Amino acid sequence: MTLPTAVSPSAQPSGPPPPGDEAWWKSAVVYQIYPRSFADSDGDGVGDLRGILGRLDHLHDLGVDVLWLSPVYPSPQDDNGYDVADYQDIEPVFGTLADFDELLAAVHARGMKLVMDLVVNHTSDEHPWFAASRGDGPGGPKRDWYVWRPARDGMEPGTPGAEPNNWGSAFSGPAWTWDEASGAYYLHLFSPKQPDLNWENPEVRQAVYAMMRWWLDRGVDGFRMDVINLISKEPGLPDGPVTGGAPYAGGLAACMGGPRLEEFLQEMHREVFADRPQRTLTVGEMPGVTVDQARRHTDPGRRQLDMVFQFEHMGLDQDGDKYTPKPLRLTDLKASLGRWQSGLDQVGWNSLYWCNHDQPRIVSRFGDATDEPSRVRSATMLATVLHLHHGTPYVYQGEELGMTNAPFTRIEDYRDVEARNHYAHAVAAGADPADVLAGLAAMSRDHARTPMQWTAGPNAGFTTGEPWIAVNPDHVRVNAEAAVADQTSVYHHYRRLIALRHDEPAVARGRFEMLLPDDERVYAFLRHDEAAGVELLVLGNFTGSAAEVPLPAGWAGAELLLGNVPDPAPAATTVTLAPWEARIHRRTVST
Ligand code: NOJ
Repeated sequence: MTLPTAVSPSAQPSGPPPPGDEAWWKSAVVYQIYPRSFADSDGDGVGDLRGILGRLDHLHDLGVDVLWLSPVYPSPQDDNGYDVADYQDIEPVFGTLADFDELLAAVHARGMKLVMDLVVNHTSDEHPWFAASRGDGPGGPKRDWYVWRPARDGMEPGTPGAEPNNWGSAFSGPAWTWDEASGAYYLHLFSPKQPDLNWENPEVRQAVYAMMRWWLDRGVDGFRMDVINLISKEPGLPDGPVTGGAPYAGGLAACMGGPRLEEFLQEMHREVFADRPQRTLTVGEMPGVTVDQARRHTDPGRRQLDMVFQFEHMGLDQDGDKYTPKPLRLTDLKASLGRWQSGLDQVGWNSLYWCNHDQPRIVSRFGDATDEPSRVRSATMLATVLHLHHGTPYVYQGEELGMTNAPFTRIEDYRDVEARNHYAHAVAAGADPADVLAGLAAMSRDHARTPMQWTAGPNAGFTTGEPWIAVNPDHVRVNAEAAVADQTSVYHHYRRLIALRHDEPAVARGRFEMLLPDDERVYAFLRHDEAAGVELLVLGNFTGSAAEVPLPAGWAGAELLLGNVPDPAPAATTVTLAPWEARIHRRTVST
């Protein structure tokens, strides 16, 4: 099946931006907190809200404007909270609603904002809505809140191939589970403990909107919306294409950008955001989203979302499937990010990220973490290139320290449901366990989830107890305490980049122009702030060797705003960049 790009006829056309839309987030930087792994205040080995409260000054000093909290709702934690059992409370392991209110007040008192994770493509199977739906049986009041279907004609329920269609789940195996008690299959694009809500049902949508208003009334400043482009399923739930001998079609691919997505997002905007007193931020996570779709979703006149997370650049070092890595070609990265920059110019808005809780650490991935100088140099180069693009940058906890991938070698080291299921399915299907572990070592989500490294001390200062996942042993040199004390650290480079976005308007608003698209070593671009008569030139050497690049005319002798090497060669007709060097030059031009 080709990915649906059709737009619902009922989706509203483009119009002027809503009144009072000041788009404050265009000059903001967002910091993502994965609460399980950030800071543990009570010694149970799991991070919590009071742990975050105790570390707010680290974030304030870094200069970030917005905190995004990965889910903190009550949950059986099958997928670390992305399986929500109650949308209007706090998971006891993280604290209480009173702790949350205190945290929110403390965030606001420091002039920052707080954005919640909204996980409404699916709930936990332990959510009371699902319990009612399961218990109701056909025709019952909540039956239709989830997606229930009978077995395929003539097939014995629960046997392979009897599933209602051929969709596979993102976490291995079929996207359907037979529920003996209610005599039907239910759909789960992720784990069997994450049943998909039926967004076709208006009662479901109204319940979600009421819950969102409840959090906004409590004072939160917006939402990051989990896999929000999967909520509208193709009518009839048709089979998808099976590729490369895979047992199932991609369930996610079959549901991306479904026929009523824009209509649902516009309805949500009307019902939840349109008349709010606070200026909110919305960002939709959208696997597989195209530039054209993203442009529509983020066109302010269409009143859907402020920005989306796209995944194209995160797939460039994967050979077909996620756990088969291949080397990144810099020209592919430039072509991809460059297309997103021009595609969302003027109308839409980009979110910019290298890292989140689902991605390996960027310095181990696109940089070089094998020795200390290369780690610091490549982490700061990657940050410079990303933060100088047009869009809103996201920093994932520990990225500002240059945290690296975990040295896990055994399946027992991993905690993630996706990684463990992948290993079990691949090995059962005959794969060599060593090969499967090599794929996990490159791409596992657990690399992002090892505890935040605060100090060189026991458990990196994350907990006084037994951490729920192993601490990276490199915390003895990579930690916040050491980084804050060292002006040449990755942390101080991030702090300077964030300050630059606040102080130099060209960073937030300048038009983007890619340079040297065919160069495999150096990432180079210009930002043009025509209104202010300012231009920025950004250079990043993506290799561990020196690289000579020609500069465009007029840049010889230009001011250096920020760089990551001591005594860089001055800008001239050509410049030789040191290994992993990054720099930002500035010049004024007549308007
Ligand atoms: C995307 C989230 O980022 C990921 O962590 C989660 O496993 C899936 N959605 C399912 O909620």
